Amino acid sequence: MDAINGIVNAFRGNPFYFSAIFLLPLLLPVLASRVVSNRRANVREPWKLPNWKGIPLIGNTIEYLVNNSSFITRTALAMQTRDIVQFYLGPIRAYLVSGPQNVQALFRKSASVSADKFSLMTMDALMCYSKEDIAKFASDKTGRLAEAKEGAVAPDGTRYWFGMHHHMKTLSQITSTSVLTDKFLEFFDERVQVYPLGEPVTVNLYNFMRTQMAGAAIRALVGDALFARVGEENLLDAFWAYDSVVINLMYALPKWIDPKPWKIRARAYGMCLEWLKQDFDAVGSPESEENDVDWHPVMGLRFLREYLVWYKKVGLSDDARAGNFLGFLLGLNANTIPIAGWALMEIVQDRQLWRAVQEEAESAFEVNPGTGKRKLNIHKMMGLPILQSVYAETLRVHVSVNVTREVVGESASIAGYQLPRNSLIQAPTRIAHFNEKAWATADHSASEFWPYRHVKYANIQDENGEKTEKPEFVLAAGPNDFFPYGGGVSICPGRHFAKQEIMATIAVMVTTFEIEMVEWMSFDGKTKSDRPAQENAKYSGSASMPPDRDMKVRWIRRV
Ligand code: HEM
Ligand SMILES: *[C@@H]1O[C@H](CO)[C@@H](O)[C@H](O)[C@H]1NC(C)=O
Ligand SMILES: *[C@@H]1O[C@H](CO)[C@@H](O)[C@H](O)[C@H]1NC(C)=O
Ligand SMILES: *[C@@H]1O[C@H](CO)[C@@H](O)[C@H](O)[C@H]1NC(C)=O
Repeated sequence: MDAINGIVNAFRGNPFYFSAIFLLPLLLPVLASRVVSNRRANVREPWKLPNWKGIPLIGNTIEYLVNNSSFITRTALAMQTRDIVQFYLGPIRAYLVSGPQNVQALFRKSASVSADKFSLMTMDALMCYSKEDIAKFASDKTGRLAEAKEGAVAPDGTRYWFGMHHHMKTLSQITSTSVLTDKFLEFFDERVQVYPLGEPVTVNLYNFMRTQMAGAAIRALVGDALFARVGEENLLDAFWAYDSVVINLMYALPKWIDPKPWKIRARAYGMCLEWLKQDFDAVGSPESEENDVDWHPVMGLRFLREYLVWYKKVGLSDDARAGNFLGFLLGLNANTIPIAGWALMEIVQDRQLWRAVQEEAESAFEVNPGTGKRKLNIHKMMGLPILQSVYAETLRVHVSVNVTREVVGESASIAGYQLPRNSLIQAPTRIAHFNEKAWATADHSASEFWPYRHVKYANIQDENGEKTEKPEFVLAAGPNDFFPYGGGVSICPGRHFAKQEIMATIAVMVTTFEIEMVEWMSFDGKTKSDRPAQENAKYSGSASMPPDRDMKVRWIRRV
């Protein structure tokens, strides 16, 4: 059986999932025969995770599906002394790995492990690709890299994975990133400057981020036509509703049992399709010289324009084009906004941190002597040590993603074991990012948010011989202990922009406003909450974890 397809079926579209408890016993003979054959083969195998509550064969599967946080807690404990753990997920052999070398092995260019099945899953569940579109990608075994995999031939002459990956890579290049950041800053600043100078205003901070940060980012990526066509408020409403059902679409019940997530997806998708057909495709010649600009009011960023034109050129359907665009909006906003939101909420609650970040950020602004206008110097900002540390610490603590790979070769060599074909390997950030051995300091355990964790003080001597301590940003553990953006060939192409956008948003907020917390609110901002925000567990494993409460603040615009 093909591992990730198996998972998809195990989670939805298959009676296995919703009556797992009743039907699982039918699988017992299959599982039991595996256990016996393994024993016979006498191969060296990684340590096996004991079954949850002692339920034979299927205990771990049940816990993985119904109580992911207790599963993680249990495996994290086991992984304090070992870096690979084996269990069964339904009928699929699965491994959890941790430790820098093993994580790196998953990210290495390799013919034996692949992330493609996971991408196919998102194309189907999240991005509305048609069956034909998915079949095209599925049958292209030539890989994402410029050089086709040995022996593989693209079925209809098109290398779909490579084409997609090639465009993704252009997003991560400096040219795309800097235009996107400049546009974002321009639009975000406009939205901040509407608040009256010197007057106190009460705002729900997280809701402000969800509307204004997302609004500015979408306009920076897409241009003006999308909001003009469907309305900004309408689009954002549909978008955040879609964001909240991503896990349901990927892992939950089939459409005919629970149609609601699919209706929500259809609404957001419909808006994307409308823009694509009515606006984007109506620009007769997207590739003409006059349209050859870095940012187009109808077609958006050069990267997006070239990407969507390529989709059409190689004969992928409008479903796939519009759906891919919708998936892109998710990539753009679903992770940066929770991270910027958490970071700001932490800064607002800690006056000393607030002053330190404000002072630092202030130093990255320049005033144009002609116009008197303030402008953030992105290059300077990217070097600010405390701001970088807050950024990294927020990602460490609030990203929960399972980097998932499938063994597609004969076997894959990880942690000194040969893992068999079709097995599934996961490296959850929740284990790596909370590893005490890698992250704890004498005073601050890994489980704590400690904004200065990645700041080191270097002793320097100035020309007068005076000694001072200069703060520097140094990630508190190695790069393979920290992978909020995934890694390897499928690493997040938006990571450079994400870092600039998050840091710039914080820099603009702390220098434009004086902000004071009033109280915690329910997430919809309507009622007072008697406890601070916690992560919304529903998003576990999907990347950034949003808060489940909002923070009501009072702010005064100072510049
Ligand atoms: C804090 C912010 C972000 C986090 C934590 C994050 C995380 C991730 C992760 C974990 C992946 C999967 C990587 C893998 O499979 O190894 C991913 C993929 C992706 N991200 Fe991000 N991301 C962020 C921001 C962004 C932004 C701002 C954009 C767009 C401008 C973006 C666009 C994408 C796209 C298009 C993919 C799919 C790439 C592919 O399939 O090859 N992300 N991201
Ligand atoms: C992520 O992995 C954990 C266990 O490692 C599991 O319980 C959870 O369901 C997974 N989440 C997703 C979205 O795959
Ligand atoms: C998950 O497991 C933990 C620890 O075993 C338990 O305290 C909690 O009640 C469980 N939650 C659910 C929803 O089953
Ligand atoms: C993880 O558990 C939370 C809370 O029990 C739940 O809402 C969420 O859907 C689960 N995630 C997955 C992927 O099963």
